[in-house]
Amino acid sequence: MVFRKRAALAVLLLSAGAAGAAPTPEIEKRIDDLIARMTIQEKVGQMSQSTSLATPLSERIKQEIRQGRWGSFLNAGNPSDRAEAQRIARQESRLGIPLLFGRDVIHGYHTIFPIPLGQAASWNPTLVQQAARVAAREAAAEGIRWTFAPMLDIARDPRWGRIAESPGEDPFLGSLMAAALVRGFQGTSLADPASVAACAKHYAAYGAAEGGRDYNSVWMPELLLRQVYLPAFHAAAEAGAATFMTSFNTLNGVPASANHFLLREVLRNDWKYDGFVVSDYNAVIEMVPHGYATDEADAARKAANAGVDMEMVSTSFFDHLPALVEAGKVDRKLIDDAVRDILRLKFRLGLFDAAIPAPAVSRVTPESLAVAERLATESTVLLKNRGDLLPLASTIGSVAVIGPLADSPVDQMGTWVTDGRAEDVTTPLAALRQILGQQRVHYAPGLQNSRDTSRAGFSAAREAASRADVVLLFLGEEEILSGEARSRAFLNLPGAQEALADAVAAAGKPMVAIIMAGRPLTFHDLAEKANAVLYAWHPGTAGGPALAKLLFGQTAPSGRLPVTFPRSVGQVPIYYAHLSTGRPPLTSELGVPAGTPVKPSGYTSRYIDLDYTPEYRFGYGLSYTRFEYSNLRVSAPSMPASGAITVSADITNRGKHEGVETVQLYIHDVTASVAQPVRVLKGFRRIELKPNATETVTFSIGANDLAFYNERMQLVTEPGRFEVWIAPDAESGLMGTFTLR
Ligand code: GLC
Repeated sequence: MVFRKRAALAVLLLSAGAAGAAPTPEIEKRIDDLIARMTIQEKVGQMSQSTSLATPLSERIKQEIRQGRWGSFLNAGNPSDRAEAQRIARQESRLGIPLLFGRDVIHGYHTIFPIPLGQAASWNPTLVQQAARVAAREAAAEGIRWTFAPMLDIARDPRWGRIAESPGEDPFLGSLMAAALVRGFQGTSLADPASVAACAKHYAAYGAAEGGRDYNSVWMPELLLRQVYLPAFHAAAEAGAATFMTSFNTLNGVPASANHFLLREVLRNDWKYDGFVVSDYNAVIEMVPHGYATDEADAARKAANAGVDMEMVSTSFFDHLPALVEAGKVDRKLIDDAVRDILRLKFRLGLFDAAIPAPAVSRVTPESLAVAERLATESTVLLKNRGDLLPLASTIGSVAVIGPLADSPVDQMGTWVTDGRAEDVTTPLAALRQILGQQRVHYAPGLQNSRDTSRAGFSAAREAASRADVVLLFLGEEEILSGEARSRAFLNLPGAQEALADAVAAAGKPMVAIIMAGRPLTFHDLAEKANAVLYAWHPGTAGGPALAKLLFGQTAPSGRLPVTFPRSVGQVPIYYAHLSTGRPPLTSELGVPAGTPVKPSGYTSRYIDLDYTPEYRFGYGLSYTRFEYSNLRVSAPSMPASGAITVSADITNRGKHEGVETVQLYIHDVTASVAQPVRVLKGFRRIELKPNATETVTFSIGANDLAFYNERMQLVTEPGRFEVWIAPDAESGLMGTFTLR
């Protein structure tokens, strides 16, 4: 069955958000009126975004604002500068067109939530949306009405530092996160003074940079682009994202900022997108070093003709578009369309009509911190809990708190934090002292920071461990090792952290490793030595209380991995939705120890010096109880393409604690005109069960859940046999089959 070419993304996408509603006739008339009166300079001024809004405002900037030189500022000024700049734009420029202030409010403004990769680990779009709403409110109160988020680059390469900002490796989960974040930022109306315009970035496929090296080339067949790397962007557009941002990379040799396929064919023609597109920082003039433009005028022409509406920081639009229009190299109508898109957002945000807000300052509140703590709790993934060491009893004698991330507010907040305040952060050390009291917490950082190679602090750490009943090791990455331009060739714990863990393990006490990082790391030996492992990502302002309460059982872990964890960087890229290959590895080839090849044998797709499976699989995460899956049933042996089928299973809590289980639905199209992944996530349900309780979880599967892009880029379903799983992760669970007629 062939769906309409490039059909809207299937399944759970929520209907188009109000914020993305069609333009109103009244607004369009006001836009037409303005454009008719604007000079070409004023038009290309609207298409220009600057970062230079120094405190106090310089006379030069004030004059430029009066002349309509800039349409927007990014990451600039403070609330009073922005209010004064806005007053000048509205009252002292010829046409009174308001400025649009943008900022990187990626995972919080003053209240910092877990990094987006951590938020994806919550598998809780509703909570993620709530957190984005808090961020929007805090930012909008200080004059920011546009955030450069959500970042929607599917990432399957942990070497890439920006995996921290991504929704992980899966387009289904990524699409739900996209819609949730757009709704949270934009609310039900952009005119709401607490709303900010969202920006789906970095369009597109930036996460597939060769070698995991930031800004590097991306070579990708259109089929993979459409199947994996575009859906989350489509979900954002469907949810009404007000803007898109082009990425730094070339896609198949063409820079994203000049890419007609992405910007015209897909975004405008297929998706009927009516927001505006901003380039990334200097990305327009970077076409010259890309080897795609001869000079900045050529770059401006190519970007404008491809469909970039606003240039971030570089000034090639302002400097060259008027002459290019004169010379007939850029169509005047194209300039008017770009300005129209920009003005439309300013009208939708109410910037033309609302009173200029007095400069205000927002702060974290008990309510915002409660949301931050809840999301940090639900983002944390329990990877190991040997002998049910966790949760710890509050009657415990004392604990040793060791490691460079136990008391580091800035690192705990993670990458892309522009307005988070260290003084608002509660670290794990502080939170544990609040629960246990100073006397029962023996603290020794052991290392100055995550990269420290000195062992000078080891003896104090060993001493702290010897006095305690349990060792809590806080390890991982400093925040400066994560994010933009932070690609790593190795994924191990930096510095002497493994050595610190060994030194402390020698004390012979039960050990819990809590890892804060902006990416999947490899820590096999540490995980072997520890009794329990919690992965907290960079958990944000309330990460301390969240972790302390998890450790002592006031809450229970429910996070599930949104990305596959490799055993070694040598396996990258590694992800669950892979193809079978013609020679899938045999289970007998499991367990190959890392390092030197042993008994090389067998001609299958694996490594001769490492177990080919991941260290931890997609969707995996433990809780403080045990869930049993039983009684899988498929409603019929086959279904017509126009019909549906239901798949059910019983989930029972077999443990002593109540817990949250994220029940996942995967399908495998066994034979198709394009080989399909061995599993693809098609749904999930979060259920909460008390001990001995059982819940039947049922999923309905329709033909569009089985659709995939064929060689002719058509979204199709094909008759044949399907495998279906209801599972706790991407490799286990109960399997059934059915046939699509
Ligand atoms: C940066 C990032 C982008 C960010 C922009 C503004 O280089 O690539 O994600 O929004 O510039 O800071």
